[in-house]
Amino acid sequence: MKLAIVGTGYVGLVTAACLAKAGNEVTCIDNNVSKLARIAAGQLPFHEPQLPCLVNEGRAAGRLRFTGSLRDGVQDASIIFLSIGTPSAADGCADTSSLLACVASLAEMLDHDCLVVVKSTAPVGTCDALQQIFRSTLRARGAGLNIEVACNPEFLAEGSAVHDFLEPARIVIGTASAQASAMLRQLYAPFDADGKRMLAMELRSAEFAKYACNAMLAARVSMVNELAAIAAQMGADMDAVSSVLRTDPRIGGRYLQPGVGYGGSCLPKDLRALIRMAQDRQEPATLLRSVELVNQRQVRLLFDAIRQYVGDDLGHCRIAVWGLAFKPDTDDIREAPSLILIRMLLDAGAQVSAYDPVANKPVRRVIHDAALNLTDDAYAACDGSDALHVAREHACLLAAMKAHAQAMQMVEHPDGKVSHRRLSNPHENKIPQLGEQAGKEAQERIAQ
Ligand SMILES: NC(=O)c1ccc[n+]([C@@H]2O[C@H](COP(=O)([O-])OP(=O)(O)OC[C@H]3O[C@@H](n4cnc5c(N)ncnc54)[C@H](O)[C@@H]3O)[C@@H](O)[C@H]2O)c1
Repeated sequence: MKLAIVGTGYVGLVTAACLAKAGNEVTCIDNNVSKLARIAAGQLPFHEPQLPCLVNEGRAAGRLRFTGSLRDGVQDASIIFLSIGTPSAADGCADTSSLLACVASLAEMLDHDCLVVVKSTAPVGTCDALQQIFRSTLRARGAGLNIEVACNPEFLAEGSAVHDFLEPARIVIGTASAQASAMLRQLYAPFDADGKRMLAMELRSAEFAKYACNAMLAARVSMVNELAAIAAQMGADMDAVSSVLRTDPRIGGRYLQPGVGYGGSCLPKDLRALIRMAQDRQEPATLLRSVELVNQRQVRLLFDAIRQYVGDDLGHCRIAVWGLAFKPDTDDIREAPSLILIRMLLDAGAQVSAYDPVANKPVRRVIHDAALNLTDDAYAACDGSDALHVAREHACLLAAMKAHAQAMQMVEHPDGKVSHRRLSNPHENKIPQLGEQAGKEAQERIAQ
């Protein structure tokens, strides 16, 4: 099929590369010309495992191309995907202005029948509004075109995005149109190996399903963090408690690790938007608001734990932080809790040495503070530090920590993860340099 994808970000580029791999002819469109120039020069605008290879393959096969021109990009496309950003507006609503502006332009320029598919996470009712823009503009133009709007929310997670797209747990198709449904079923058939993953529903249910998923995930993170805080006050070990939770099939095994809280470009903004949608309809969203409050408190709890560990006067301390992006294996630092923590430490007068295998560069662009030292070596970040906070469990950092767990006095978790409570004091415990073998292994993983 001939496809156009508007918005070449995390979602758009992964979608494009995966759909090109499946044999489609895909044109990516973006209004950020410097981003397109970087891609043209063979550099992806963000870090995502497996993606560079897939993009190179698609380009080499002539199935993946890039343009800054909407008109050029959508020519002859039978499906146009919209994967434009929907960031939080000041009032917490999702800002859909770019999406609406793009559809207004499409409605003016399209000259052929096609299906427009919204992949962006957008409030319930957005697809109806977009369909209305097409109807009224096409009527005003006197153009007798058939342009349908469908909703196909994306569930990929950064860091495993290619895998998530190629082997999705579900593919949600929101449309009332049999024709639109058939087109999307045909397109996604190669990704539905067992024929059980496509979930068809009305537009509004598909739009809401995306918010419902992110609300459940955020709630789970906050629930585990709140339980961990209570457990700590009661002398209970949350790791032991989690091992009990994990074995209950009704609860499931994931998202049971207490930590610094959720962040990133989706959960915080989508929860805010959902709360706004609920409140606009006189629904109190009591639980969802609590989920947010628990998450906001989490960074403060961690800051207090560090202060308790090193002493109140942070002005004389250097704190090392490993893992800066909002999760491992991505360089996305949008609403990353570790950056909020770093800001708090810097504001309290601490020196901070920070390391991330892939996210140092974006952090350098947003935090300009002489007291923040970003290092390209995990152990260099610990040199002269009074405490180490492991914010995210990058595989390479786990390898380093495994090698030196004893020296760093880090309690290892049965599943290999390390929570924010595991602070070590490199002065007292004399963190050694990485041994040759562990160092090599860590470096190799960093290089991957
Ligand atoms: N990042 C994720 O993990 C993820 C997962 C699922 C859903 N989503 C949702 O998908 C959408 C996109 O997210 P993202 O993380 O890919 O965003 P992103 O910021 O990485 O990419 C969005 C891209 O759209 C481009 N853009 C904006 N307006 C445009 C226009 N009018 N014409 C052409 N290009 C335009 C931007 O330049 C940018 O490159 C959001 O609604 C998000 O909530 C994101």
